[in-house]
Amino acid sequence: MTSYSYETHEYDVVVVGAGGAGLRATLGMAEQGLRTACITKVFPTRSHTVAAQGGIAASLSNMGPDNWQWHMYDTVKGSDWLGDTDAMEYLAREAPKAVYELEHYGVPFSRTEEGKIYQRPFGGHTTDFGEGPAVQRTCAAADRTGHAILHTLYGQSLKNNAEFYIEYFAIDLIMTDDGVCQGVVCWKLDDGTMHVFNAKMVVLATGGYGRAYFSATSAHTCTGDGGGMVARAGLPLQDMEFVQFHPTGIYGSGCLITEGARGEGGYLTNSEGQRFMERYAPNYKDLAPRDYVSRCMTMEIRDGRGVGAEADHIHLNLSHLPPEALAERLPGISESAKIFAGVDVTKEPIPVLPTVHYNMGGIPTNYWGEVLNPTPMDQNKVVPGLMAVGEAGCASVHGANRLGSNSLIDLVVFGRASAIRAGSVVDREVPSMNLDTKQIDKAFGRFDGFRHSKGHTPTAELRLEMQKTMQSDAAVFRATDTLAHGFDKMKSIAQKENDLKVTDKSLVWNSDLMETLELTNLLPNALSTIAAAEARKESRGAHAHEDFSERDDENWRKHSLASVMGHNINLSYRSVIVDRLTDESQGGIPLERIAPKVRTF
Ligand code: FUM
Repeated sequence: MTSYSYETHEYDVVVVGAGGAGLRATLGMAEQGLRTACITKVFPTRSHTVAAQGGIAASLSNMGPDNWQWHMYDTVKGSDWLGDTDAMEYLAREAPKAVYELEHYGVPFSRTEEGKIYQRPFGGHTTDFGEGPAVQRTCAAADRTGHAILHTLYGQSLKNNAEFYIEYFAIDLIMTDDGVCQGVVCWKLDDGTMHVFNAKMVVLATGGYGRAYFSATSAHTCTGDGGGMVARAGLPLQDMEFVQFHPTGIYGSGCLITEGARGEGGYLTNSEGQRFMERYAPNYKDLAPRDYVSRCMTMEIRDGRGVGAEADHIHLNLSHLPPEALAERLPGISESAKIFAGVDVTKEPIPVLPTVHYNMGGIPTNYWGEVLNPTPMDQNKVVPGLMAVGEAGCASVHGANRLGSNSLIDLVVFGRASAIRAGSVVDREVPSMNLDTKQIDKAFGRFDGFRHSKGHTPTAELRLEMQKTMQSDAAVFRATDTLAHGFDKMKSIAQKENDLKVTDKSLVWNSDLMETLELTNLLPNALSTIAAAEARKESRGAHAHEDFSERDDENWRKHSLASVMGHNINLSYRSVIVDRLTDESQGGIPLERIAPKVRTF
């Protein structure tokens, strides 16, 4: 019996999350006449995509030669050969179409003299299959690209009659005993009422879980809610060990300084004033991929060449750039540097440090966004009624390391793909399913358990313990002993979930309870991350293991799958998809081009 009364809503599709991926999915669904609801815990234009700065990758060739095959090659190499080939091809091929659609929807891109979309260089994006110079592939709206995209997609979704449920917190999925997703149970934050959404398709677009770490560029709302719900539904999370550190978070606050700053000509220096990236990456220098630049910065600091009183960070120099270029192309970060570091970028360098920025891992999906529950017999088994897109999902296009500006394009390409797929698998004519009420009771039971919990550990205290553990033991460089120590620590932290203390028992604007629910979503994400990292005995992409410093394709070119069992993790593995969508005869990339090789820059 449920302890809460609730209102039921019926839709063809319910999208959870209103960032770039959620809104692009919502818009695509609504455009096709699917009855679509978008549920979001924050106002749509406050979603974390609003903070995306530098731009969105697509081979438009507006600033010089480019093509989707080069973009695909860079993505494969960037992923350190862990991405799924079909998904990476889909991303690179569809990217130009998806960007022109955005332009037609009204995104105010920066322009070239001729009125074309302006594109800037970004790390790891090259010409001629990595043999030519850096390419200008990243389409930008100054350094506020995410902001521009988010506002446009929200307006377009409203125009197409999508319905928004704003400040609704998703508590749990409604999954039948035979593994079909039927909807989602929600709590309306501003009046305390409960809501059950019955949907033929649920799309999780809940973003990443950067807040499992102490210092992150992610918003405080990035609490891995989709991953938490999926883990509780008994489904696995994929490649969670791969956590991206962005080279240039502002020292102290962690606030993002876009890679576009280096794209526009900025460079990093150490305490000796040296442009040290020239030593590590002679070809691409400061525009090498993020995992590599973050490691080089960390090595400079470890070797005693960090800047500042404690020699513990690095300088990003922009003052040689013309002030008008900074004002036109990088106005947002000029302001952030002033506010968060007290620095005038026209005169002084910005103090920066690698900072947690993105989760390559997430809910496993195919390139249509359908969630997978791999079995030994069927590695690509689809979960009926459930999709995941954006940072919450793992298609997997980014593999072990994502290239800058491949995130915004991932959001729109796969948000759009999920809508295309839903258009063919969701039957508008069939009536809604009868919901499994015991699953609804279970969700309310869990909610009520935390609401009335009588433990001794305040949520903020446990969250801090988790964040500090992840920050020190699952960092840029990892080692056998720190990972083992971190995993043990995280297991004991996860157990304290049973001892949480929630003081506020009310239902209206109860941030104590909401943060507790968010913490219970962060915990399975964090635990899976450190468990999968501890198990992976190689170095690949963002997983730099000091005791296994080489990539080991023979034993480890495989996706990890982490299933949360209570407060422990069961790991299994899934093959990387190596088949292309098109072969050479159809213009596809030659297989030998994307065969694994040593990653140098
Ligand atoms: O550096 C940036 O502007 C971030 C872009 C990204 O993560 O793709």
